[in-house]
Amino acid sequence: METFFDLAQKRRSTRTFLDKPVPQEIQEKLKQIVLMSPSGHRANPWEFIFVEDKQSLETISTCKQAGAAFVKDAALAVIVIADTTKTDVWVEDCSIASAYLHLAAEDLGLGSCWVQIRKRAKESGESASEVLKKAFNIPENYEVLSVIAMGYKQEERKPFDLNRLQLDKIHKETF
Ligand SMILES: Cc1cc2nc3c(=O)[nH]c(=O)nc-3n(C[C@H](O)[C@H](O)[C@H](O)COP(=O)(O)O)c2cc1C
Repeated sequence: METFFDLAQKRRSTRTFLDKPVPQEIQEKLKQIVLMSPSGHRANPWEFIFVEDKQSLETISTCKQAGAAFVKDAALAVIVIADTTKTDVWVEDCSIASAYLHLAAEDLGLGSCWVQIRKRAKESGESASEVLKKAFNIPENYEVLSVIAMGYKQEERKPFDLNRLQLDKIHKETF
């Protein structure tokens, strides 16, 4: 069995995918895993929109100026949204859920990449969150944090080289 260490070492961002759908049983696992994410006060402000429709993936790929184009060729994109009236830590809750999806995808044999939506915009200045809210009928009191795009990897990337980890980022007892 792979350990969490192996998973963390293997997980790299994947932006090129095979033209192959993600089976329903894997999508069900992703749903269960993401719903087990921790959440401050168990407020669970997050909700998740699973998107496979090609036209919808295309819409996501153009929702911001840069960094989303590859989504059009993903097999599945999960839009991570939150009801911002439920808690003041929705950004943290959604970020953890996004990281769970990113790692779970790797564990389930998929590649994935985080697409930042919060604080990102189109060339016109319209926020990426607003674009997605309109396109996916997301209510006004919700915000979009991220999209986790995934699919079967076109190629395997090298795992992290443990000799190159920035150990100087780690402090002991004091800065
Ligand atoms: C908060 C956050 C936002 C990111 N936004 C994007 C994005 O919009 N588009 C993209 O292609 N990659 C995005 N990434 C992926 C990073 O570029 C990637 O994690 C980084 O280059 C390191 O590569 P690795 O994940 O393979 O180690 C994002 C990652 C994080 C954690």
